[in-house]
Amino acid sequence: MALTGCSWLFLSAAFLSAGAEISITPEPAQPAEGDNVTLTVHGLSGEVLAYNWYAGPTLSLTYLVASYIVSTGDETPGPAHTGREAVRPDGGLDIRGALPGHSGTYILQTLNRQLQTDVGYGHVQVYEILAQPVVTANNTALVERRDTLRLVCSSPSPAEVRWFFNGEALPIAIRLGQSPDGRVLTRHGVRREEAGAYQCEVWNPVSVSRSEPVNLTVYYGPERVAILQDSTTRTGCTIKLDFNTSLTLWCVSQSCPEPEYVWAFNGRALKNGQDHLNITSMTAAQEGTYTCIAKNPKTLLSGSASVVVKLSAAAVAMTIVPVPTRPMEGQDVTLTVQGYPKDLLVYAWYRGPASEPGRLLSQLPSGNWIAGPAHTGREVGFANCSLLVQKLNLTDAGRYTLKTVTLQGKTETLEVELQVARECVRGCIFSDRRSQSGALSPPGRGGKHRQRVDRRPQQT
Ligand SMILES: *[C@@H]1O[C@H](CO)[C@@H](O)[C@H](O)[C@H]1NC(C)=O
Ligand SMILES: *[C@@H]1O[C@H](CO)[C@@H](O)[C@H](O)[C@H]1NC(C)=O
Ligand SMILES: *[C@@H]1O[C@H](CO)[C@@H](O)[C@H](O)[C@H]1NC(C)=O
Ligand SMILES: *[C@@H]1O[C@H](CO)[C@@H](O)[C@H](O)[C@H]1NC(C)=O
Ligand SMILES: *[C@@H]1O[C@H](CO)[C@@H](O)[C@H](O)[C@H]1NC(C)=O
Ligand SMILES: *[C@@H]1O[C@H](CO)[C@@H](O)[C@H](O)[C@H]1NC(C)=O
Ligand SMILES: *[C@@H]1O[C@H](CO)[C@@H](O)[C@H](O)[C@H]1NC(C)=O
Repeated sequence: MALTGCSWLFLSAAFLSAGAEISITPEPAQPAEGDNVTLTVHGLSGEVLAYNWYAGPTLSLTYLVASYIVSTGDETPGPAHTGREAVRPDGGLDIRGALPGHSGTYILQTLNRQLQTDVGYGHVQVYEILAQPVVTANNTALVERRDTLRLVCSSPSPAEVRWFFNGEALPIAIRLGQSPDGRVLTRHGVRREEAGAYQCEVWNPVSVSRSEPVNLTVYYGPERVAILQDSTTRTGCTIKLDFNTSLTLWCVSQSCPEPEYVWAFNGRALKNGQDHLNITSMTAAQEGTYTCIAKNPKTLLSGSASVVVKLSAAAVAMTIVPVPTRPMEGQDVTLTVQGYPKDLLVYAWYRGPASEPGRLLSQLPSGNWIAGPAHTGREVGFANCSLLVQKLNLTDAGRYTLKTVTLQGKTETLEVELQVARECVRGCIFSDRRSQSGALSPPGRGGKHRQRVDRRPQQT
């Protein structure tokens, strides 16, 4: 008996120490809803008569799931039985098709032959298969620096939340605007870099689900409004344009959405709502200041840029003007050239059309000139292309041709008809046969002179 007593004492001590070690672990450790879960018991020792399982934090009858008598295998459900639990002969608890509601603390109470009880605690968390969350924005089109971005991630389930921006983790600046639970994203004075697709994702150890993207537009600008020449070249403040050439001015800016454009010429609005303006044939009338005004209809901001367009000096149409206009026999005349190319390489004067025998003289870049076959000794050329013809006689009248060649190799040929008036004894004026009727008439006195001119052929 002593031995038995000793043995009982030993067993009792063993039981007590073992009892302190009862532990309960769920299998699987992180079950998803619908899984069959087993609460496995470890550290049981001695002969157990009965098990009581409780689903709750205390040993209260209301939490009793089931009582189980080991010898008979009889199981009696308690008030907390959900219809899915079953006690196993080894003391474990099976929960078939566990639901999130089965989550919580479980207590196993054992009873041995000496009617001593012991308890073990365990915890199970049954995770939901998460439904797709929804992101809602109180406004998907915002104005930069003015509007507040507010996104809410809605999910019926408790879960961790994380956000995605264009498929990537959210930039830190935006992440700072999260609510403590991560479900609300607020960003005051939203920036253009924050335009894009936002998604939220809910996750727990057994599932993850991402929302559809919400696309956010951020309006800004116009900024850096500039005028480009022919779509690529950035203009300075002045564009010089050759006579009778064309130019397209492009207005560019950084703006969302594309701005509305208005062009103005010397302060007057033009009827042009496009991003470009064509100057089809440059003349002096097109000289002036061109302004492009870009207006953003969403931000209600506007910006402008201007450029001055000028006729390039070298490209003013070349004209030949005799000085004096109506020279008389014996006088000198200068055929002055206005608008001659500034980048002149060489020019040549001809009597009649441009031809070698008709060449009067050529002027070289050095300023030296070379007499041609038609030179009479009375012609002098100047650096500004002018031709001086001294001591005119009637045979000098007629067509003169100037040919210019620029450094770029551009040639231009221009003609002038020189008229030489005959000097007569009584001081009357006759033109040579090439004169046009009225050509010699001062304004308002045409008729009288025309008569004289008309009579002229009869005198010869
Ligand atoms: C859970 O157990 C039941 C019965 O044993 C079985 O029919 C069912 O397929 C199991 N469910 C899962 C998710 O394993
Ligand atoms: C969106 O939410 C923010 C923050 O709550 C608020 O300031 C803003 O006025 C809201 N915008 C609209 C269009 O409701
Ligand atoms: C958001 O933008 C993406 C990519 O441009 C597009 O595929 C998607 O349909 C847009 N979603 C909405 C709601 O407009
Ligand atoms: C302008 O150029 C066009 C074609 O290049 C030409 O036909 C026209 O005569 C020129 N006009 C003037 C005034 O030079
Ligand atoms: C300007 O010229 C381009 C090319 O010649 C043409 O396509 C465009 O329609 C013109 N724009 C205007 C406003 O006349
Ligand atoms: C060209 O030079 C000559 C001589 O210097 C001068 O008499 C003439 O007026 C000049 N013509 C023009 C258009 O400048
Ligand atoms: C006119 O000038 C040309 C050339 O210098 C000369 O040959 C001709 O004799 C002159 N005519 C008269 C009428 O002086």
